[in-house]
Order: sequence, then structure tokens, then C-alpha cells
Amino acid sequence: MNRRRRVYEGKAKILYEGPEPGTLVQHFKDDATAFNNKKHDRIEGKGVLNNRISEYIFERLNEIGVPTHFMKRLNMREQLIREVEIIPLEVVIRNVAAGSLSKRLGLEEGTTLPRSIVEFYYKADELDDPMVSEEHITAFGWASPPELDDIMSLALRINDFLTGLFLGVGIRLVDFKIEFGRLWEGDQMRIVLADEISPDCCRLWDIDTQDKLDKDRFRRDMGGLVEAYQEVARRLGLHTENPTPGRSGPVLVQSK
Ligand SMILES: Nc1ncnc2c1ncn2[C@@H]1O[C@H](COP(=O)(O)OP(=O)(O)O)[C@@H](O)[C@H]1O
Ligand SMILES: [Mg+2]
Repeated sequence: MNRRRRVYEGKAKILYEGPEPGTLVQHFKDDATAFNNKKHDRIEGKGVLNNRISEYIFERLNEIGVPTHFMKRLNMREQLIREVEIIPLEVVIRNVAAGSLSKRLGLEEGTTLPRSIVEFYYKADELDDPMVSEEHITAFGWASPPELDDIMSLALRINDFLTGLFLGVGIRLVDFKIEFGRLWEGDQMRIVLADEISPDCCRLWDIDTQDKLDKDRFRRDMGGLVEAYQEVARRLGLHTENPTPGRSGPVLVQSK
């Protein structure tokens, strides 16, 4: 296991060569970063929770026919994935104003948006991931117009599904970031969901208390990050203390 070739080390994860060609092992670290690495810390237990939560969400998405890179979880920190050619975009879907959108447009955090809004950011740490339009994406060839159509419709499907999944456990899905890649099967290519979906890349607010159950706790020095991620896992019915498959499914939270 420890002699595997490291393919890439990022801010939150490490990718190792997988057991079969075309596969990778995605390892979730405990590192927490924000503002493009200007703020950096290590939060014990975060990687285990993100691995588990992301596994759960990707499995549910696979079940409803959203193609993803996810194959299976290997252990507490690692999952087996299909290697894809990452499209260099961070795709952000917003349902409620928060973070940079609130700042840019002067919207109060918590304002429900007139409809779900999809935004694109060019994945380039050295440029601080600038926001780009569809024009930039197709002109510079980061994705073709049909690929962008696929990305848009998958993003909205994922948003609808996750909004309902989280609502069922008393959580408001404010916004989230996803990444897509090209998966080649013979000479056929399809766009699949890659990377992770976890409280590191979502804004999740408790429906009743508006408590933040996501990485904003780290960005805004609120503390209690692991406890918040643990609460998300608990509500989704995941037993993170005992990382064996047996799961009871989402816990219905009664709204007061
Ligand atoms: N299936 C995949 N195949 C290839 N690369 C992937 C896949 N899924 C995610 N990645 C890439 O692996 C990296 C994951 O590590 P992460 O710590 O999130 O990196 P970063 O600091 O670049 O965000 C990301 O750059 C992501 O684009
Ligand atoms: Mg990342």
C-alpha cells in the first residue's frame, strides 16, 4: 500500500495510482485550507468524514443515473475512482445568497435566489480561480459547447437531488462546488462527476437554527468543524465510528 505511486497531491486530497489501469485511489487528508491556501490548518478526523459523506452522495447519484468517477470506498480515508481528464472548471450551483455572491451583488446572506444559478470558475490557483463565462470556456477550449450543455444539465440534476436529500434531514443546501471530467470508454467519451461532494465544498445550514454545518466554520473561525461534519454524517444515517457498510439510511428530521 505505501509503495504506491503518488500521482498528485492537492490541498485536501492525494491521488495514488490505482490497482488497475484507468483507476486511482483518492486519499482524503485532514488538511483544511481556505482563501486559496492563505489560511491552512489540520483538523483531525475531517478526511475520514469527507470520505464517508462523499461516498454516500456519489453512490446515491450513481443509483439515479448520474455518471460519476466513484467505484468503491477502500478504507476510512480512501476510495477507488476512475481516472478522468479533469475539466479545469469549478462549477458552483447556488440556491441561496452567501459568500462571494452576497459580497459581489450586495445581497444579504440567506436570501433565496429567484432560481438556481450556475457559475463557473477557472481552476488555476495562481490566478485565485477567476470567475469565467461560457464564452471564455468555449473560446479557450476548456470545454466544448456540447460538453458544457452536459455539465449544466448534470449540475442542475445533482442540485435538485441533493436539495431534496438534505431537506429530508433538516438541512438547507445553500450552494456547492463540483468538478467534472471526461471518461473515455473505447472511443466514446462521456462527462462524469469527479472529485468530491462533502461539507468542504457545500454550504449546509440547519433548517431551524441556520447553524452552519460546513467549511465556513473554518473560514470564519467559528470552531466545531468536525462536530458539524459529524452531524451531517449522522443525519444522513452514516455510522462514522464504525466504518463498515451497514447503514440505516437518512434520519428524517421533523421540522418544528
Ligand atoms: N477522477 C479523477 N481523475 C483525475 N483527477 C481527479 C479526479 N477526481 C478529482 N481529481 C483531481 O484531483 C485533485 C484532488 O485533490 P484536491 O486536494 O482537491 O486538489 P486541489 O488542491 O487541486 O483542489 C483535484 O485537483 C481534482 O481536480
Ligand atoms: Mg479540491
